[in-house]
Amino acid sequence: MKTIIEPFRIKSVEPIHFNTETYRNNALRDASYNAFLLHSDDVMIDLLTDSGTSAMSSAQWAGIMLGDESYAGSPSFYKFEKAVTEITGMPVVIPTHQGRASEKILFSITGGKGKVFISNTLFDTTRANIEFSGAEGIDMICPEGKLPTIPAPFKGNIDIKALESYIEKNDAAHIAMVIITVTNNSGGGQPVSMQNIRETHKICRQYSIPLYIDACRFAENSYFIKMRESGYADKSILDIANEMFSYADGCTMSAKKDAFANIGGFLALNDPELATKCRNLLVITEGFSTYGGLAGRDLEAIAIGLYEVMDEHYLQYRIRSIEYLTQKISAAGVPVMLPAGGHAVYLDAKQFLPHIPVDQYPGQALVCALYIKGGIRCVEIGSLMFGKYDENHQLIPAALELVRLAIPRRVYTQSHIDYVAEVIIEVFEERNQIKGMKITEEAEILRHFTAKLDFV
Ligand code: F0G
Repeated sequence: MKTIIEPFRIKSVEPIHFNTETYRNNALRDASYNAFLLHSDDVMIDLLTDSGTSAMSSAQWAGIMLGDESYAGSPSFYKFEKAVTEITGMPVVIPTHQGRASEKILFSITGGKGKVFISNTLFDTTRANIEFSGAEGIDMICPEGKLPTIPAPFKGNIDIKALESYIEKNDAAHIAMVIITVTNNSGGGQPVSMQNIRETHKICRQYSIPLYIDACRFAENSYFIKMRESGYADKSILDIANEMFSYADGCTMSAKKDAFANIGGFLALNDPELATKCRNLLVITEGFSTYGGLAGRDLEAIAIGLYEVMDEHYLQYRIRSIEYLTQKISAAGVPVMLPAGGHAVYLDAKQFLPHIPVDQYPGQALVCALYIKGGIRCVEIGSLMFGKYDENHQLIPAALELVRLAIPRRVYTQSHIDYVAEVIIEVFEERNQIKGMKITEEAEILRHFTAKLDFV
């Protein structure tokens, strides 16, 4: 097989600002060892997130000029609505400024004290919005999803047995909804199988529990289904996405991922009564129902991006880039989540830095080492992000200590990826010199964004 090439030519470029290890040491110290607090000009390869960082296509930029900025009833909205309905099959489409705004609106209405939300794994803002409403979020990832370095085709699946047994032991009326995150971002960007979604739907139907999809990476998940699940090889990505959404009562989506947009999101629903409540809240928080916090040009760019992302040449290149980096570092002995996920490479920091205990945040120590060594910015998904304290202020660690290198869509080429692999391998070879960390300042909610740290 020939090399899978980037399925685009580059028309406009942005310079990378080169700097030295000494410069980066100072920059990171000034940022209190939190990569979120770095100036992005000081980052050479930015793998902090794949969200809002995509390169838009020439067609999307052309769409930006076509964007109609009417307050109400803009043609850009109808184009956006048509694209979302064609993909999700859901008649109600509510635009929002990004994914978490959809979550806030939906959970403000469906959540509250005493309610429970069950998921394969809730993303951090999703969990935070659920908890902010007073409700509880419970993750039920399948057993293979808990084993970072043991490959399986659908490690993002929800644990069906755990779900059933929870429903049998508890009152189903308290379960606000089940949310399937595709792909499972906090669990390694791993896909969820169609069978798993179908079975979840059956259980939810039986107990009258609504099923929602967190659809940020719906196209990447659909491509994995096409590649790995029997019966889907000859189906189009649109057909697979249609089937996936057909099992759900609604979905939230951040258009900053699989719509190649720099901002935007939506909430799509089947239930017209719930839709009225959501739209009422939309008007007081986001904007009128035909723009919801977005400019007409954003709606236009999203409508175009939603179709572009389903192109199979693009998805083949996309999934292969992540796999390529994963294989390269794995061959050098670096402990990495296997198989490769859809949008990011996840290093297993516990295995990478066995000499650093979890209460010294090995993931964050690795994030710092990768920045200092190569100017690469990535994010800890472990006890800094998800850790809690017990009554004696002792850390209750997260299940996994991961470091995510998220690959922005259509932004970096193969040589950038080769460079990233070289830096990771060099850091791995010098891993014994890496020190643990302590938190010196932190916020109550989503502390990883603003926490200040230092070496122990
Ligand atoms: N759900 C998932 C699975 C996500 O990955 C994100 C964002 C959201 C919801 C919220 O969307 O950012 O538009 O408000 N994930 C980004 C990330 C931030 O880096 O993984 P948003």
